[in-house]
This record gives sequence, structure tokens and C-alpha cells, in this order.
Amino acid sequence: MRTFQQISALRAYLRNLRQDKKTIGFVPTMGALHAGHLSLVQRSKGDCDITVLSLFVNPAQFAPTEDLSKYPRELNRDMQLTSNADVDAVFLPEIEEMYPSGFQTWVGVTELSKPLEGEHRPTHYQGVATIVTKLLNIVQPDIAYFGQKDYQQFLVVERMVRDLNIPSAIQMVATVREADGLAMSSRNVYLSPEERTAATLLNRLIGIASERVQQGEPNPLTLKQDLERVMSQEPLAELDYVALVHPDTLQPVTGLQEEATLLTLAIKIGKTRLIDNALLVPEGIPLPRPRISKPI
Ligand code: PAJ
Repeated sequence: MRTFQQISALRAYLRNLRQDKKTIGFVPTMGALHAGHLSLVQRSKGDCDITVLSLFVNPAQFAPTEDLSKYPRELNRDMQLTSNADVDAVFLPEIEEMYPSGFQTWVGVTELSKPLEGEHRPTHYQGVATIVTKLLNIVQPDIAYFGQKDYQQFLVVERMVRDLNIPSAIQMVATVREADGLAMSSRNVYLSPEERTAATLLNRLIGIASERVQQGEPNPLTLKQDLERVMSQEPLAELDYVALVHPDTLQPVTGLQEEATLLTLAIKIGKTRLIDNALLVPEGIPLPRPRISKPI
């Protein structure tokens, strides 16, 4: 496995591979790797000749009040995991390599960044869109892989790639969960044992909502209120939002039985903020195909 800290060295390595007609898959991460990240790697290895993973805790996507300084950093473990997963190249730039002094260009995806996470983290998606643009320009992958776990992030990146004519396909990969249903996340290490138990609430809410939609519940407001009631019974959990939205536009839906609806949830357990989501599909309606955007 090759490791690169300099953009120029990574570019030189990839230029040779491209000349040899190798296809390149790319998995951007902030490290503290877990089986969710590794499922993106597996997908890339199945699709592409070469897999590049980046490991960069991007300061621009954290607000001053958020957990940038205590975000888990486990470089040795991450290098072991990427090497075991047979990643071809790891890109781990220093902050100055990505944001040299004088940096002043930002990418914003106006509408899709506004609701849900955007309401609670107003500068977050500008930070994500900017770093992902830079990483895609550096790696120039055939396909870049993103988890459904961060569904809104996927939509923001997909739109940005289309709008800016970035010639990479963007592939969504299903959320990987712990045995009890909690979505894997680098932030799960913050949870105490009691909080970890309470965190299964998210997956329980998804289960309740899926069942209700399959049984024919037509009304998103009724379902939302019922989910909020279940949530209020968990003393360790504090609600950020429960939303039932269209999976392409993220706008609230008016019915639940016409097509698939995206349920998206954010809660705080102690100091830890957790998000999750699922597509709710009514009986008799086919599950939407996994998303991949084609380069235009
Ligand atoms: P990070 O949180 O490290 O996640 C990297 C990628 O792994 C994202 O595409 C995320 O959706 C995916 N992922 C995380 N948990 C997952 C799970 N349980 N199952 C499947 N995929 C999962 O997301 C980021 O980093 C950053 O915003 C980044 C895109 C790297 C830009 O800085």
C-alpha cells in the first residue's frame, strides 16, 4: 500500500496508472475507520482496478462549537485496516496541504444544503462541498463512493458534481449497522454504555416507521408525531429533528403511500449527536434502485 501526503506525488502516481488504462475508485473519509468505511472500499475494489482512500479531518465542515478537536484520530489503526483491506493508496494530507495560506474559494450547493442537517449546521455543507471538490480534482476518480448513512451529503455531492461538470460517477453504498441496528459511526466511541444502549432508539424508530408505511399509514404528520412520542420516552435522547421528505429534493412529503419517502432523524444522546435515515417504501411499490450518478 502506498501512502501520500503531497498532492503532487499522489497525482504523479495516478497519472501513470491512468496511462495504463487503470480505472480508479475513490473513498473519501475522515478516518477512525470502521466497517461502514470498509464497505465503501470493498465496493470500490469490486468495481475499479485501483482504490484510493483519503484520510483527512476537514476543519472547514466543523462549526466552532463542534467536535473538531476531539474527533477520534487513530492513524496507526486506520493504516492497519486500510492495508488489510488491500487499499492501493492512502492520501493523508496535512491541513496546510489542503488549505494553504491565502485560501479563499468555497463551493456552495444552495438548496440541498438548506434543510435538515443544514438547518442545524449552517456552514457544514459548504465545508463538505469544498473539500470533496478539491479531493475529486486531485484524485480524478472514475467512481467516488459515499455512504447512505449521510444521505443529504450524498445528494449535495451528487448535485455539485453535476453542476460543476466534475467527470466522476458518484455511487451510494448502503448503511452498515452494528448487530443491534445502530448505524456504524466514528462518533459512536463517544457514547457511554448507557448512552450506547439508548442509541438503538434510532433504529427502533426506523423499524416502527417502515412497518407503519407498509401497513398503509397515509399521513406523514401522524407518523411524525408518533415517532416524536416514542422518542420522548427515552430519557437520554434529545430530539434534533424527525423528518419525512422526498428522497430527491428533501422537501416534506404530503403523503406516504404514493412512492418511497426518506425518513431522516437526528438526536443528541448526552453530548453526542447521531443521525440515521431510511427509505420507507409502501407495499407494492418497488424499492428505489441504489443511486449512482453518471458523469455527463
Ligand atoms: P466520514 O464521516 O469519515 O465518512 C466517510 C464516508 O463513509 C461517507 O461517505 C459516509 O457516508 C460513509 N459512512 C460512514 N458511516 C457509514 C456506515 N455506517 N455505513 C456506510 N457508509 C458509512 O463523511 C465524511 O467522512 C466527510 O464528510 C467527507 C465526505 C470525507 C468529507 O470530509
